[in-house]
Amino acid sequence: MTAVNPHYLKLQGSYLFSTIAKKVAAYKEAHPQAQVISLGIGDVSQPLVPAVVDALRQASLEMGQAETFRGYGPEQGYAFLRETILQGDYISRGVNLSADEIFVSDGAKSDVANFQELFSADAKIALQDPVYPVYLDTNVMAGRTGPYQAGRYGGIIYLPCVEENNFLPQLPSEHADIIYLCSPNNPTGAALTKAALKKWVDYALEHHSIILYDSAYEAYITQADVAHSIYEVPGAEKVAVEFRSFSKTAGFTGTRCAYTVVPKGVMLTTPDGGQVSLHSLWLRRQTTKFNGVPYIVQRAAEAVYSPQGREQTCKIIAMYQQNAATILSALKEAGLTAFGGQNAPYIWLKTPQGVDSWSFFDKLLVEAQVVGTPGVGFGACGEGYFRLTAFNTPQLTEQAARRVADLTF
Ligand code: MLT
Repeated sequence: MTAVNPHYLKLQGSYLFSTIAKKVAAYKEAHPQAQVISLGIGDVSQPLVPAVVDALRQASLEMGQAETFRGYGPEQGYAFLRETILQGDYISRGVNLSADEIFVSDGAKSDVANFQELFSADAKIALQDPVYPVYLDTNVMAGRTGPYQAGRYGGIIYLPCVEENNFLPQLPSEHADIIYLCSPNNPTGAALTKAALKKWVDYALEHHSIILYDSAYEAYITQADVAHSIYEVPGAEKVAVEFRSFSKTAGFTGTRCAYTVVPKGVMLTTPDGGQVSLHSLWLRRQTTKFNGVPYIVQRAAEAVYSPQGREQTCKIIAMYQQNAATILSALKEAGLTAFGGQNAPYIWLKTPQGVDSWSFFDKLLVEAQVVGTPGVGFGACGEGYFRLTAFNTPQLTEQAARRVADLTF
């Protein structure tokens, strides 16, 4: 028989959100009358905005005409979208990049999962705890960790993000080759200011490390000193890769479009002591393994940057931000301590004394028919915490918030 990749056997159970979906499905089957409200997985509730739908319609018509039909597109994305992203997200913020440093893709999750394959098998990985599970699991699959023991994989540098440090990662005392940072953070909602981010860029410059910076929730930033892009920090263009997504910005969780910025100045060492650019490797990887995002989806993403697209998507983001405020005030009313929700669509609440994350999940599901995500599912430091998302409709969010506020803890 063919042998398995042994590293897959180190993985813990199933993917967090699949486990939750199964538990909720079982509950619904046993209680068919229950009106379960999900504030669990970060999936959006609002439909695509009219500007995006118009672009999809128009592009579909083009695909149905011989003169305007398109087959394979460039694996890295069409120039029209890369240029629009460059202007709309970077030049407008005073960040100088070039359009060919932007790689359009079908999701930040897949990019962030795939990116690690460019690094050596013994690269030392640092990541936040709690953490978006994809960063960790993909490195486990690639064999960069030891076995799992007492809530941790051997060989990983965990950066505890706890109440004492406002859930912000602190620089490691040992050398890290690859550092995953997510800001605004999933799951805690904490966000790095430019000054805090500068410390990480300086560390990476000094240690010749690479920062993989996930800023999928950038559109939710309200605080002026929080960085929207890591490239707002000088020097980051030499050490950082940035992941962005249209999922939470424009409701593309089912439409699929994202992009990754790989500046040409980011270098890796070769076994013979030379250097190779990360950009050239990612281009090689994408052209080999990826055939690009559908033309119609790229036109839809382009429409997000039109004046109407901006106005319409901003309204939806404001609605989700209002949901976050609704949840925060209900939790306060219930006497619970909560964090996040100011620069992110995630609220990170502290479970009552003596109640662990999964027990809190069960209590909320059984007593309030509200689904959230147990903090421990994001790492050992998430034990005793619970994540709620602001992505449901205002009406259901208010209902869920009311049910939680009425519970006795
Ligand atoms: C989450 O709930 O953490 C998100 O849905 C994750 C993702 O975007 O893949």
